[in-house]
Amino acid sequence: MGLYPPEFISMLKARKIAWFATVSTVAEARAAEAAGADAVVAQGMEAGGHRGCFDAARAESDMVGLFALLPAVADAVHIPVIAAGGIADGRGVAAALLLGASAAQIGTGFLRCPEAKIHPAWADALTHTPPEGTVVSRVFSGRAGRSIATDFVRAATAPGAPPPAPYPVQRGLTSVLREYAGKIGDVQHMQAWAGQSAAMARAESAKDVVHRIWEEAKAFLA
Ligand SMILES: Cc1cc2nc3c(=O)[nH]c(=O)nc-3n(C[C@H](O)[C@H](O)[C@H](O)COP(=O)(O)O)c2cc1C
Repeated sequence: MGLYPPEFISMLKARKIAWFATVSTVAEARAAEAAGADAVVAQGMEAGGHRGCFDAARAESDMVGLFALLPAVADAVHIPVIAAGGIADGRGVAAALLLGASAAQIGTGFLRCPEAKIHPAWADALTHTPPEGTVVSRVFSGRAGRSIATDFVRAATAPGAPPPAPYPVQRGLTSVLREYAGKIGDVQHMQAWAGQSAAMARAESAKDVVHRIWEEAKAFLA
């Protein structure tokens, strides 16, 4: 969610620690490269959860889809680009590589893996969440994040609903609701983060997901 201070970047370089900066616009990608990032993660607006937008206030106005963001970032910087946002199968990985990415980053596509340990009600809800069934809102934490458009999200973003408090106050205000929803298994009031490819997430081990997606991608690229 921004750039590290120059002194911190110098310490990373001195210790040979690679820094992959997450960017959501071309301007952020250029700034990250100029600051010394070793690679950029181009994060499209399809992505689940919070995004790494440098200016949190512009998270809703700077909404760039990965198909437009990726080639533009690949043209703008000379460091490797990792594609993120909406990728959850071999088609997405193959498309990302063709659009200029050196690798793909997947978040939502791993949420149903046993390793993710999310609530079963959240995992089930992902299976029937179409791309338009997710929404970016500030209702959970005060920062923009993409989640399933649950009853709570719809009510809290409806015209006339009170505006969310600034980050992280809103997180505190919703904590009791989120925890209680977890206890009773009520996904409609959970913090059910999800990207637009939610329905493509499969209940497989993380290892199997990686192998399956890479085999699919290789077949598309052969
Ligand atoms: C549950 C969850 C929480 C996330 N939290 C953050 C976050 O705090 N900051 C961030 O830059 N990205 C966050 N992400 C986005 C991931 O880093 C990744 O870029 C994204 O999941 C890729 O898009 P996808 O979800 O469509 O696969 C989160 C993703 C998920 C699924």
